[in-house]
Amino acid sequence: MLGRLLSQSGKPRGRFGRFLVRGMNLGHSGLTRWGLTKVEIRENATVLDIGCGGGRTLERLASLASLGKVVGIDYSEDAVAVARKRNQRLIATGRVEVLHGSVSLMPFPDATFDCVSAVETYYFWPDIAAGLAEVRRVMKPSGQMVIIAGMYSGSRFNKRNMRLIRAGDMRCFSVQEFEETLQDAGFSAVAVSVEPRKGWICVVSELGSKDHIGGKSQRDTA
Ligand SMILES: C[S@@+](CC[C@H](N)C(=O)[O-])C[C@H]1O[C@@H](n2cnc3c(N)ncnc32)[C@H](O)[C@@H]1O
Repeated sequence: MLGRLLSQSGKPRGRFGRFLVRGMNLGHSGLTRWGLTKVEIRENATVLDIGCGGGRTLERLASLASLGKVVGIDYSEDAVAVARKRNQRLIATGRVEVLHGSVSLMPFPDATFDCVSAVETYYFWPDIAAGLAEVRRVMKPSGQMVIIAGMYSGSRFNKRNMRLIRAGDMRCFSVQEFEETLQDAGFSAVAVSVEPRKGWICVVSELGSKDHIGGKSQRDTA
């Protein structure tokens, strides 16, 4: 049962999958609102939300980038359908677009986005290094990536989280693993924030050469 739920969370399918992404729209709302306060999104920004699920984050991003453009991508066709329906008015005005596709191979030219968000999704990416390389490619050199997650290794909910991670065959990084993984992928984690009472984490990264990484990262993990 738990395995099925987590597998559906990783790639929602069918009627149950559509029900689940609508539920996640609600369930991830507080986490997403908190995480998005950690990144600056200009009103004319071009923003990509990877693993957009049911599309509530697209709506929120469109209200922040009120003169910009927001694109969602998800490799679940059912999630894409729910996200399109939810955002149909914004889609009709051309401010939001929702595409079917994987983080590993995204249909965007190099250096397209000012900001890339990923909420509750990196756990499931089949190849984190390939995913981050693709994010790096589509980000503008001045861009930022924000990873928002309701679990991190080492939080007060570690025992529960590790049970989920094992049952769902997922990944879950500690603060240090985030910093190291991002550095290896050519990013610098400029701000790592946690909300210890809830067990949430938000990592904002910029593109940076491996040379200038180190010592720059700012942790708000008290
Ligand atoms: C737990 S849901 C989170 C959905 C949404 N971001 C939210 O916060 O409600 C994870 C989403 O990531 C998507 N996803 C997982 N791996 C992906 C990949 N490799 N490429 C694109 N989307 C992916 C899933 O299809 C699913 O919709």
